Amino acid sequence: MRATMSQDDLKNMFNLTGKVAVVTGGSGGAGKAISIGLALYGADVVVTSRTLSTLEETAAEVEKLGRKALPVSCDVMEQESVNNMMKKTIDEFGKIDIMVTAAGIALRSPAEEMSIEDFQKVMKANVDGTLMCCQVAAKEMIKAGNGGNIITVGSIRGFQGHPAGYSAYGTSKGAVHLLTKQLAVEWAKHNIRVNSIAPCIFWTPLTEPILSDEEMYKVFMQRIPIGRPAEPEDLVGAVLYLSTPASSMVTGHILSIDGGTSAW
Ligand SMILES: NC(=O)c1ccc[n+]([C@@H]2O[C@H](COP(=O)([O-])OP(=O)(O)OC[C@H]3O[C@@H](n4cnc5c(N)ncnc54)[C@H](O)[C@@H]3O)[C@@H](O)[C@H]2O)c1
Repeated sequence: MRATMSQDDLKNMFNLTGKVAVVTGGSGGAGKAISIGLALYGADVVVTSRTLSTLEETAAEVEKLGRKALPVSCDVMEQESVNNMMKKTIDEFGKIDIMVTAAGIALRSPAEEMSIEDFQKVMKANVDGTLMCCQVAAKEMIKAGNGGNIITVGSIRGFQGHPAGYSAYGTSKGAVHLLTKQLAVEWAKHNIRVNSIAPCIFWTPLTEPILSDEEMYKVFMQRIPIGRPAEPEDLVGAVLYLSTPASSMVTGHILSIDGGTSAW
């Protein structure tokens, strides 16, 4: 069977008008930039993270662009909370087209001192949290029968070790990458594409202490040929690509946004 695109389809391939996106971690550096980016191209956005008040800024930016924003409090470590987030999405918009799982945490310490509690907490937030959000989104997409796009947030740390204490975080992101491939293969028959972005370090309030430390900055820049950390906005084009027919034959892909790190 052929799935050809007309010139109009090609011209409008990034148009998200009428689409509903859910972005977890919507108050964070990445989640905020991605929410605004999706709204700029026409999507209504459900912005979620644990504390409702932290979502006000992102929601206001989305609405300023003339799109609808629904801020929803959701702890991705809790199944009931994730179910409730999806119920609110469906109650408000009747569907979900795009899920971006940008919620995540990083706890770093030397590998020999990494406590099992911290290790499990990172795995729970980053891996269990990603799986649960993908599951509730996919169930609605399957029910509606119109396909959909899921974009998980991995990391360059999911490919490579790093001296700065990433035993929990790196392991969790490696798991996110493989989970992404597994979901892509299982859900392709429902026309649900599942892809991941794998950024190198980018500026957020949380990475500012690392990147403001001259020595640490040097350590991180040693492996980024482009010679700078990423910005949250550097993730937007990749998410847009993976959310639209621009990537209609792409699924199970881990798209590095790393200034050439993985090419080294
Ligand atoms: N900042 C970087 O350098 C970098 C690099 C590669 C990948 N990432 C990944 O990008 C994603 C976004 O990170 P960021 O840098 O924007 O961080 P951030 O700390 O600015 O944002 C993280 C977001 O996740 C939310 N969150 C954390 N735990 C949660 C939970 N249990 N339930 C719901 N929400 C929760 C936070 O409230 C926040 O909105 C994360 O998955 C992170 O691992 C970040």
